[in-house]
Amino acid sequence: MPKFYITTPIYYPSGKFHIGTAYTTVLANTIKKYKQARGYETYLLTGMDEHGQKIQQVAQKSGKTPQEHVDEMAKEAKKLWSLMEIEYDDFIRTTEPRHEKVVEEIFDKLMKQGDIYLSQYEGLYCMPCETYFTETQLVDGKCPDCGREVKKMKEESYFFNMKKYANRLIDFYNENLNFITPESRKNELFNNFLKPGLEDLCVSRTSFDWGIKVRKDPKHVVYVWLDALTNYITALGYLSEDDTLMKKYWPADLHLVGKDIIRFHGLYWPIFLMALDLPLPKQIYAHGFIMMKDGKMSKSKGNVIYPEPLVERYGLDAVKYFLLREMSYSQDGTFTPEGFIERFNFDLCNDLGNLLNRTIGMINKYFKGEIANYPTSISELDKQVESYSSGVIHSVEEYMDTYHISQAIQETWNLVSRTNKYIDETAPWVLYKEEKQEELQSVMYHLVENLRRIAILIAPYMEHTSCQILEQLAIPKELQTWQSLNKYDQLKNNKVTQTPEVLFARLEAAEEIEAIKAMMK
Ligand code: MSP
Repeated sequence: MPKFYITTPIYYPSGKFHIGTAYTTVLANTIKKYKQARGYETYLLTGMDEHGQKIQQVAQKSGKTPQEHVDEMAKEAKKLWSLMEIEYDDFIRTTEPRHEKVVEEIFDKLMKQGDIYLSQYEGLYCMPCETYFTETQLVDGKCPDCGREVKKMKEESYFFNMKKYANRLIDFYNENLNFITPESRKNELFNNFLKPGLEDLCVSRTSFDWGIKVRKDPKHVVYVWLDALTNYITALGYLSEDDTLMKKYWPADLHLVGKDIIRFHGLYWPIFLMALDLPLPKQIYAHGFIMMKDGKMSKSKGNVIYPEPLVERYGLDAVKYFLLREMSYSQDGTFTPEGFIERFNFDLCNDLGNLLNRTIGMINKYFKGEIANYPTSISELDKQVESYSSGVIHSVEEYMDTYHISQAIQETWNLVSRTNKYIDETAPWVLYKEEKQEELQSVMYHLVENLRRIAILIAPYMEHTSCQILEQLAIPKELQTWQSLNKYDQLKNNKVTQTPEVLFARLEAAEEIEAIKAMMK
């Protein structure tokens, strides 16, 4: 069985997770479910990045020890992922002994090899990002990642000798053109960081102590990125007694990250792996950000939106649909209450929901709920619809295989629209009146068949809706699989439900827009 190991970033438990964090995780879960449907054995890793100065500060503010704070946050995070039905296989926390022990060992090993050396660091430090920058990397004198103030700081630190491996990484980039995707992000890394020459990376701190101690020099704690990135292998049991998963799943097939942390994943992580003599991940996909009308989400602007109230009010499938649909492959997406309600009312309620309802209604009215077998003769239009639908399956697969999820969804909705149009073109009510039994039967068959296909295509991200459609149409189990997508003539005397249920009830737009605005904090 082919295998697929996919990871999300491990998130900082510095505050409640918002829809941005949820987006990456939903995307990862969608890719996992798709791969499973295609016959892969999958492993999805997520978790939390619990060390560092910021976490220490946040805990202090709320009168807790850092450990108490991260323990609470881990519970919260797991609750959220369970609400969002994220089927992770492991949840790694960097404060767990299984992780800490291995990071200590890795640091030791890299020191012994001479890849890590002691020096002095002086630089411009961004506290929230826990990153030093050089003057030239700043944007308008501020942190290039988060836009906040930086501070000049100096401390004794251990450094990782990045320069030693830089050429090997350049070669690797040149030999593996899809290593970083989208290409624009790869070019950014290559031209702005690799070409001008990689700086050595500071890998320890003495200015705070909430971290993994360096064994040989315990006044230092391991700098958060060396600690954090290694989660992808410590979770699999690297250097531990049981390394079955490591053998089975490493190298990762896909590290999913936001564009904010591509630098760490695309430059430092591969170099750490080279130093450890481990194979590099197959691909890193850096997606864009969910933005609000007025820019980035931030508590100070009061425009942060959290997934829980959205899920509670509109259901999980609608939220997943919106997030995935709105974020294109390589650009940022925007969340607006208006956009959310519009997609809900148009795409989900009008286009998909009504298609199912109309179809079931007609089959009940014209054929007492039963559609016969594949028709013996079909019209030109039926043929066209069949081949259109097969074309959609093909392109959805292509898009999903390359993680263009939003485009895959658009393609699927093209099929929804095409099928709605097919009803208007064939005018079944006229066929009924004119008693064109066979033609009418063929139309009903094709409607059910398209809906069956749509239900299978949306299953990786809209599981409930998919199940509801398949159930209401009484599709047998063996015709609910991805593998059955291409079979167009297998339905036999299907008896659809007599009491169709509405998939998405139309919302009162003005009222709901206000409701969503009130959710923003
Ligand atoms: N702890 C590091 C990652 C270490 S991975 C070895 C970190 N954590 S974070 O909590 O700040 O999470 C960052 C990730 O959250 C981003 O890379 C992205 O995946 C996700 N997002 C955070 N805000 C986001 C948006 N507004 N939109 C989309 N994704 C966003 O960095």
